[in-house]
Amino acid sequence: MAKLLYIKASPMGELSYSIAVADAFIEAYRKHNAKDEIKVIELFNPSLPAFDFEAASAKYKIMHGKEHSPKDRRIWQGIVSLIDEFKSADKYVLAVPMWNFSIPYRFKQYIDILVQPGYTFTVTKSGSYEGLVKGKPVFIAYARGGEYKAATPAEAFDLQKKYLELILGFMGLTDIRSVTVEPTLARGPATANQKKAEAIEKAKQLARTF
Ligand SMILES: Cc1cc2nc3c(=O)[nH]c(=O)nc-3n(C[C@H](O)[C@H](O)[C@H](O)COP(=O)(O)O)c2cc1C
Repeated sequence: MAKLLYIKASPMGELSYSIAVADAFIEAYRKHNAKDEIKVIELFNPSLPAFDFEAASAKYKIMHGKEHSPKDRRIWQGIVSLIDEFKSADKYVLAVPMWNFSIPYRFKQYIDILVQPGYTFTVTKSGSYEGLVKGKPVFIAYARGGEYKAATPAEAFDLQKKYLELILGFMGLTDIRSVTVEPTLARGPATANQKKAEAIEKAKQLARTF
């Protein structure tokens, strides 16, 4: 029985295009993998801890080989429990909107929590970086208001896919399959609905072999 972590990075619930596509993926996946455990993380849930002065100080103390105070330990435990939850999954499904050409800030906050030396990546003796979350597939449903097609001038503005896949790869997650819904705004609701329907069909196909 595999454990699948479904991470929703849109606050838009039923109005979200990325969630609609990822939900369709999950529904199709369940049909083929009825016994698997599916855990959902809503990144706009207020319980996601801030990566602030206290968390960064606890991180730097580890990096500089200094002792944690009881307060540091409490803060760091909150970070580690989220990392453990992430690493305990065998597969990942992500619903990700484009916000200002990149990912929403709550997803960046989650990444700042997850990407820690010794937990999700390490530095080898030769000085290169090595991801520690390896051999697990990721499905990503991207949604964008505009269009960022390959080989067009707009492609350079797409720092959503580029950044997300870079940081996932940094943690060792290189088996990435994705579907993109675009444009969800620029060409009106009829086009958006048509693009969503097409993306849902592709997502269902990909779910069969995930
Ligand atoms: C704060 C914010 C910033 C956005 N920035 C962009 C952007 O840079 N480029 C773009 O094409 N669309 C942008 N959009 C539009 C969203 O990408 C679009 O509505 C998409 O469908 C959001 O995904 P969702 O439907 O899953 O929430 C932005 C929307 C919001 C709320």
